[in-house]
Amino acid sequence: MESRTVLITGAAKRIGNELALHLAKQNWNLAIHYNSSKAEAMALRDYLKAIYPKQVFKVFCCDLSDKPESLISEVQKEFGQIDLLINNASVYNPGSIKETPIELLDEQMSVNFKAPFILMRDYANLCKKGGIINFLDTRVTKFASNYAAYSLSKVALSHLTQMGALEFGPNIRVNGIAPGSTIAPLGVDSDYLESRASRTPMKEPGGIQPILKTVDYILDNTYLTGQILYCDGGEQLT
Ligand SMILES: NC(=O)c1ccc[n+]([C@@H]2O[C@H](COP(=O)([O-])OP(=O)(O)OC[C@H]3O[C@@H](n4cnc5c(N)ncnc54)[C@H](OP(=O)(O)O)[C@@H]3O)[C@@H](O)[C@H]2O)c1
Repeated sequence: MESRTVLITGAAKRIGNELALHLAKQNWNLAIHYNSSKAEAMALRDYLKAIYPKQVFKVFCCDLSDKPESLISEVQKEFGQIDLLINNASVYNPGSIKETPIELLDEQMSVNFKAPFILMRDYANLCKKGGIINFLDTRVTKFASNYAAYSLSKVALSHLTQMGALEFGPNIRVNGIAPGSTIAPLGVDSDYLESRASRTPMKEPGGIQPILKTVDYILDNTYLTGQILYCDGGEQLT
């Protein structure tokens, strides 16, 4: 099987880590991006190297709120081509419009929107062909303001996903995955996922599998571009 390279931002933990394990199993080489989770990123790289010795796994540190401009060129230098960019890294902080200080607004927009914009731009300019998957959130369909800056950063990224699909086709396909509650934020009650899911049509949390299946579907269906796929048990309808 041909080996391809994927850059996953925020790959050291949680959903990013699951994406890394899933794609490595499918023979992908991995550029594992992290910011603060160095130990977890190294451990992931070492684990993958041990079980898939013929594939290439490298780690890249970058604070996406500060200098996202260097990342694509650094990864490209190491791997030659990047066949897939997954913009997964994110910050998720609460605050209504009235409660949001400029620092919070800046951070949410920098990490969740500005950095993916720059990475997409550099990917299109340097790599010229491949695919991009942006991680959004089912919140993009809502007007709830309890995570105002976060939600708006993902709305902007959702729009950018479709704009990028239009500009970058046919050589680069751009799609978005909008999860519902998949992995609970740190520090919330143990029934958080069940309680959120009980208000959706599917009534129970879906876990990581729907997201991994959606990644596979996007990769397999080479006519798909500019689509936002909701992995949320129907939460976008509520
Ligand atoms: N978890 C869910 O249930 C859920 C629901 C809806 C949507 N989503 C979306 O799915 C994606 C993954 O979710 P998640 O919960 O796994 O994400 P997460 O744990 O909140 O964040 C993923 C990674 O983002 C990285 N990151 C944060 N600030 C950064 C910065 N300044 N520079 C570079 N990297 C930075 C962190 O890397 P380091 O640890 O290395 O610092 C972190 O591990 C996100 O885009 C999220 O919005 C998740």
